Amino acid sequence: MKRLGGKSALITGAARGIGLAFAKAYVAEGARVAIADINYEQACDAATAIGGAAIAVKLDVTKQDSINAAVAQTVETLGQIDVLINNAAVFTAAPITDITQDDYARAFDVNVAGTLFTLQAVARHMIVRGIKGKIINMASQAGRRGEPLVGVYCASKAAVISLTQSAGLNLITHGINVNAIAPGVVDGAHWDGVDAFFAKYEGKAPGQKKKEVGDAVPFGRMASAEDLTGMAVFLASQDADYIVAQTYNVDGGNWMS
Ligand SMILES: NC(=O)c1ccc[n+]([C@@H]2O[C@H](COP(=O)([O-])OP(=O)(O)OC[C@H]3O[C@@H](n4cnc5c(N)ncnc54)[C@H](O)[C@@H]3O)[C@@H](O)[C@H]2O)c1
Repeated sequence: MKRLGGKSALITGAARGIGLAFAKAYVAEGARVAIADINYEQACDAATAIGGAAIAVKLDVTKQDSINAAVAQTVETLGQIDVLINNAAVFTAAPITDITQDDYARAFDVNVAGTLFTLQAVARHMIVRGIKGKIINMASQAGRRGEPLVGVYCASKAAVISLTQSAGLNLITHGINVNAIAPGVVDGAHWDGVDAFFAKYEGKAPGQKKKEVGDAVPFGRMASAEDLTGMAVFLASQDADYIVAQTYNVDGGNWMS
């Protein structure tokens, strides 16, 4: 039996990478998905490739109007929202002495405010409709500890873990489960960008940082986006009904090491 049959999910930042892998996994488990992304063209391509169970939605999580419109479009097209994955995020890195106000504001606008206010809009919808929904936030191992060159991104993901705890405790009173996933290092376009930052700040050759972090993972390699889908399906399913305000590492042992 499919674990998400009849469910509708809104996934932010799903035009590529981990969010796209989640969308495909959810459809395979019987759900319909809204692929919501600031890159609308790529979201449309992704939805077309997945087929009839997917729609593309234009969304900038830093804009309240855009959040409201994306939620309204998803509800109008898919009927309701049973599952939200707050996946959209941006990465930034710099030594503490080089961090700029703009970089800080952008990372916190997308990663923290974007997560909070998308969660809020969807939670309001779920409460009004009496939906016992599931909300999953994308945290990171970066939220569990600082890194010398990644201060702002680490702080933003620590905030996501904290918001997951507060929202989880608050919204379970409405039967809505809020939990989070903390990946380690996941191969894809995001990590190509991370690699480029380290090439700049540590003088590494392109691809060198990626190889180093992959070799250091106890499992023996970086994750693929597909390595995370089992947890994302589980947390959206009724098997996770009693799980509240938790952040789960899915990292090949990276955080433990
Ligand atoms: N890749 C990793 O190693 C890794 C590790 C830990 C956590 N994560 C987290 O997992 C999630 C997905 O990561 P990914 O590797 O797929 O990243 P990615 O950069 O490949 O994808 C992020 C998506 O978010 C979209 N986006 C950016 N700003 C947006 C905005 N304002 N509104 C709506 N959409 C926006 C982008 O267009 C993109 O499609 C993120 O929350 C990331 O922080 C990733």
